[in-house]
Amino acid sequence: MEIKKVCVVGIGVMGNGITQVSAQAGYDTSVVDLSDEILQRGLGNITKSLSKFVEKGKLTEEEMEEVVGRIKPTTDLKEGAKDADFVIEAVFERSDAKKEVFKELDEICPPDTILASNTSTIPISLLGSATKRPEKVMGTHFMNPVPLMRGVEMIRSLATSENTLNTSLEFIQSLGKETAVVKDSPGFVTNRLMPLILNEAAKMYEEGLSTVEDADKIVRLSFNWPMGPFQLFDLIGIDTICDVLEAVYTETGWERYKPAPIIRRMVEVGWTGRKAKKGFYEYTGWW
Ligand SMILES: NC(=O)c1ccc[n+]([C@@H]2O[C@H](COP(=O)([O-])OP(=O)(O)OC[C@H]3O[C@@H](n4cnc5c(N)ncnc54)[C@H](O)[C@@H]3O)[C@@H](O)[C@H]2O)c1
Repeated sequence: MEIKKVCVVGIGVMGNGITQVSAQAGYDTSVVDLSDEILQRGLGNITKSLSKFVEKGKLTEEEMEEVVGRIKPTTDLKEGAKDADFVIEAVFERSDAKKEVFKELDEICPPDTILASNTSTIPISLLGSATKRPEKVMGTHFMNPVPLMRGVEMIRSLATSENTLNTSLEFIQSLGKETAVVKDSPGFVTNRLMPLILNEAAKMYEEGLSTVEDADKIVRLSFNWPMGPFQLFDLIGIDTICDVLEAVYTETGWERYKPAPIIRRMVEVGWTGRKAKKGFYEYTGWW
C-alpha cells in the first residue's frame, strides 16, 4: 500500500514534530487539534524549528515554504482524516481520550488506512479494541525532539497484521528514521527504562541532594548524555512523565513506577516544563 496522505492528530510537543518530519519527507500532511489558537501555536513552533534548519544551511527558504505549504491544519477530525492513508494520533496520554479518537478515526477513515498512536505506554491492543480494524492499529513511538531524534519504537499488538507492520516500518523509515520493533508491553522498552531514572531524580530533588543544575551537570559529564534528568523532565513535559509513570504503575503494580509526590505537585500547579515556560527551570523566549 502506498502512503500519500498523512494525518496527525494533536499538534502539541510531539504532534508538531511529527507533522514537520512528515511534511519534510514530502507527504501531504493534515494536522488536527482542538482550537485554531493551539494550531497556530503549533505551526509557529514548526516554522521556528524549520528556520533553524535554514540557519544551519540544511534547508533553503524555498524548501521551507514548500514544507509549510504541505501542512493543512484543521479543527475538524473528519476533514483532516477522511482521505488519509496513515494517521498518527498524538493527543494527551489518557486512554479514554485516545480511545475516543480511535473510535472516530475508524468511522471516518477508508478501510485500508493504518491508525497509529504515538503513545508512550497505553496498550496498542486497547486502542485497537476501540476500532473494527485492530489488525491495522500500530504503535509508532517517536522520540522528542522529533526532527532531531532518529529512533522510532514500533509497537505491534497481538492483533496487528504483518502487512500493517511492514507498511508502517517502510513509511516511518521514509521519514528518515530508524525503527526497532517491540512487543505491546507496559512502557515498551524506552518507557520501562527512562521514567525510572527521572522518578529517582525527582526523589533526589525532594531530598535536597544537590541543585538541579549540579545534578544535570554531573550526569552530562559522567555519562556523556546530552542533557541531565531535570533538563529532560522539562523537555518531555512533567505532566507527560507523570502520566507515563502512572500508566506503568497502574498496569504492573510495580512500586518503583509510583510518581514521586513532587512530580504530582508540579503538575497540579501547572509547572509542566518548557511548554509552560516553567518546570525544574524557568524559560524565556523560544527554546
Ligand atoms: N512529550 C514527549 O517527550 C513524548 C515523547 C514520546 C511520546 N509522547 C507521547 O505523545 C503523545 C502526545 O504527547 P505531547 O507531549 O505531544 O502532549 P501535549 O500535551 O504537548 O499535546 C497534546 C495535544 O493533543 C491535543 N488534543 C487533545 N485531545 C485532542 C483531540 N481529541 N483531538 C485533537 N487534538 C487533541 C491537545 O490540544 C494538545 O495540543 C502522548 O501520548 C505522549 O505520551 C510524548
